[in-house]
Amino acid sequence: MTLLKLKTKFLEDLANLYPKEEILSFFSLLIDFILGLSKVDIALHPNRTIEENTLNFFYNALNDLQNEKPIQYIIGTTEFYGLPFYVNNNVLIPRPETEELVEWMLNKLNLQNSALKAQPSTLNILDIGTGSGCIAIALAKNLPDASVVAIDISTDALQIAQQNALLNKVNINFIEHDILNPKTLQSSSNIEQHLKFDIIVSNPPYVRHLEKQEITDNVLLHEPHLALFVENDNPLLFYDKIADFAKRNLTENGQIYFEINQYLGQETTRLLKEKGFKNIELKKDFLGNDRMVRGIYF
Ligand SMILES: C[S@@+](CC[C@H](N)C(=O)[O-])C[C@H]1O[C@@H](n2cnc3c(N)ncnc32)[C@H](O)[C@@H]1O
Repeated sequence: MTLLKLKTKFLEDLANLYPKEEILSFFSLLIDFILGLSKVDIALHPNRTIEENTLNFFYNALNDLQNEKPIQYIIGTTEFYGLPFYVNNNVLIPRPETEELVEWMLNKLNLQNSALKAQPSTLNILDIGTGSGCIAIALAKNLPDASVVAIDISTDALQIAQQNALLNKVNINFIEHDILNPKTLQSSSNIEQHLKFDIIVSNPPYVRHLEKQEITDNVLLHEPHLALFVENDNPLLFYDKIADFAKRNLTENGQIYFEINQYLGQETTRLLKEKGFKNIELKKDFLGNDRMVRGIYF
């Protein structure tokens, strides 16, 4: 089979599921992944033959795409904040709005440092619900002097996060913890005895079951529900527990950053206020949705 015929097959077989541009983008990602060829190569060598054994990979990928498996899980990698990340169905695929959270944090920290006219000092940072490790790793990469700890309840997610730290050559202390269960915090490892943290960040599960109908099948059928969903009647459960944890474990003037449910901006802000956080800021993402909140504890 030639490149051109295979491309035509992808366009035909996926036509009723995805727009043409998206199919072409899947195709070139797969060609790049398995053959190391660029879009230009595809255009210049339409009659290049694809070996029989390689074709099987494309047929499997086509089948996965027909089942709405995300392309990132098919090729096993994605990009976050300009860095490469391994992903599989044990971790949420990092989202652009989470890149905005990282960008916001880095801007704030740079502003603070320049206001203090200080060299960036060693920051102790904790990422709660690290998943692929994207937030922790992007911060560590951009704040080389920081000491970063990251926790998750999922052993499988932590394995991927660990591999991502190696891939990106950063040193992160990963700890398996259930943030909702203070007993595991006290009895298992020593997170509460760690030095206090200057910054605690979390993108916890925040999608209510009632919002399921807004979620497309590629997410619903393939991404880990442990990473996504919370009960309708207690959607801020993680924010509540993490804010309490932060009050015990932040340094003076320590900062908390959250990614939030777009429909719960006011409620999340109120929760932080009630917990005693100050200078609370709510920030919108590139789509204009309430998506991030930050507070200081002093
Ligand atoms: C929305 S995902 C965020 C993943 C990653 N930080 C990101 O931004 O892409 C939430 C993460 O919280 C983890 N998680 C769920 N329940 C938890 C719990 N009780 N304690 C610690 N982590 C938990 C999930 O395994 C998942 O990795």
